[in-house]
Amino acid sequence: MKLTIIGTGYVGLVTSACLSDTGNEVVGYDTDREKVAALRRGECPIYEPGLEELLRLNIAAGRLQFSTDAREAVQHGEVIFIAVGTPPKPDGAPDLSALYAVADDIATHVDTPKIVVIKSTVPVGTGDELEERINRRAPHRVNVVNVPEFLKEGTAVDDFLRPDRVVIGAEDAAAAAVLRELHEPFVRNQRPIYIMHRKAAEMTKYAANSYLAMRISFINHVAAVCDALGIDVNEVRTGMGSDTRIGFQFLYPGAGYGGSCFPKDVQALAFVSRRAGVPAELIDSVDRVNQRQREALFHKIVARFGESLAGRTFAVWGVAFKPKTDDIREAPAVVLIDKLLEAGAAIRAHDPQALDNLKRRYGNRISYHTSSYEALDSADALVVVTEWNEFRSPNFTEMQRRLKRPVIFDGRNLYSLEAMRNRRFEYYSIGRPPVTPAGEKDMARNDG
Ligand SMILES: NC(=O)c1ccc[n+]([C@@H]2O[C@H](COP(=O)([O-])OP(=O)(O)OC[C@H]3O[C@@H](n4cnc5c(N)ncnc54)[C@H](O)[C@@H]3O)[C@@H](O)[C@H]2O)c1
Repeated sequence: MKLTIIGTGYVGLVTSACLSDTGNEVVGYDTDREKVAALRRGECPIYEPGLEELLRLNIAAGRLQFSTDAREAVQHGEVIFIAVGTPPKPDGAPDLSALYAVADDIATHVDTPKIVVIKSTVPVGTGDELEERINRRAPHRVNVVNVPEFLKEGTAVDDFLRPDRVVIGAEDAAAAAVLRELHEPFVRNQRPIYIMHRKAAEMTKYAANSYLAMRISFINHVAAVCDALGIDVNEVRTGMGSDTRIGFQFLYPGAGYGGSCFPKDVQALAFVSRRAGVPAELIDSVDRVNQRQREALFHKIVARFGESLAGRTFAVWGVAFKPKTDDIREAPAVVLIDKLLEAGAAIRAHDPQALDNLKRRYGNRISYHTSSYEALDSADALVVVTEWNEFRSPNFTEMQRRLKRPVIFDGRNLYSLEAMRNRRFEYYSIGRPPVTPAGEKDMARNDG
């Protein structure tokens, strides 16, 4: 089938690669000329495991092309997927201006009846609105379908190729059947395709993301109480998660959730709720707890080193919002670095993939290190913010040798308290008692 994917970001590129891989003729369209030029050269503008290979393979096979020509792109696809960004506005409502711009491009150039699929995450009712907006002007009728995207950055290709389920929100049975056919190659392992009303599909995406975010904020709240009462949250988590009704997924205390989806989708669900006349206190709290949690590491650092951090240097390991991505949008590490810089500290940052994006944000205000150990040189402490695998079993002796003092703030609870005690680290984690040098619990907080 001939397909067009509008927007070649994390979702659009993965969709383009995977749908061309099953034999479709795909044109990916973006207004970002630099990005399209890079893609045409076979370069992948983002880091996502397995994506570059899949793009190259399908470009070479002639099934995948990229364009900046709206007319060509709109006219190519029998089905047009929209995967542009829907970032939050200051009031939490998603900014749909890119989506409307695409709708207007489609209305202007459409030359035959088509199916338009919204893959961007959008508020309930957007499908109705977009269908009306396009059909008001277009000479040929389009049917708008909502197929929410559930991929996770870091495992996006695999998630697309082997989804837990596919949700198709359609008001038109023929359009739903086309989308089912397109997705069938990905559910051969008996995973379900659910066809539902368009608004239900739109709501499903917000509900799913907000629920996962709620679990993270819930365990972060429990961790804060454990911190205050001197309890180890890991013990609580074990006792709680082994209940088959609860489980362990998304029940890891940490430095807060980030990325381009959870923060925005939680705020958007609160917005959608209020617009529907339903109070959003539960959803608002998920967001508030997360805002607080993203500052938890900073507060621990201040409690240890004092309010003014002028003259202090901190090594930061992991700045992507989660492992296996280069995405730093809404990353807890960015919140931390902003606060540390404001308090006068110097930053030495390491991340296996996200340093280029970090450089674009901070320029020469911080230093960047491709070696995790080099980042530690003469730092007052290490702060682990993102749990890349390579941080799980590091060479602690080498760390001690390089750090000015053996102090670790761990936003992901990577190391056991016992190991830290045995290795003579001073260690602060989330929801677990601190490890401080024996007998020095009350030592001067601002020691040199
Ligand atoms: N990133 C994720 O993990 C993820 C997962 C599920 C759903 N989503 C949703 O998918 C949508 C896209 O997210 P993303 O992370 O891929 O965004 P992104 O910012 O990585 O990519 C968006 C792309 O759209 C392009 N674009 C903007 N306006 C355009 C226009 N008028 N015409 C053509 N192209 C245009 C941009 O240049 C950019 O390349 C969002 O609604 C997001 O909430 C994202």
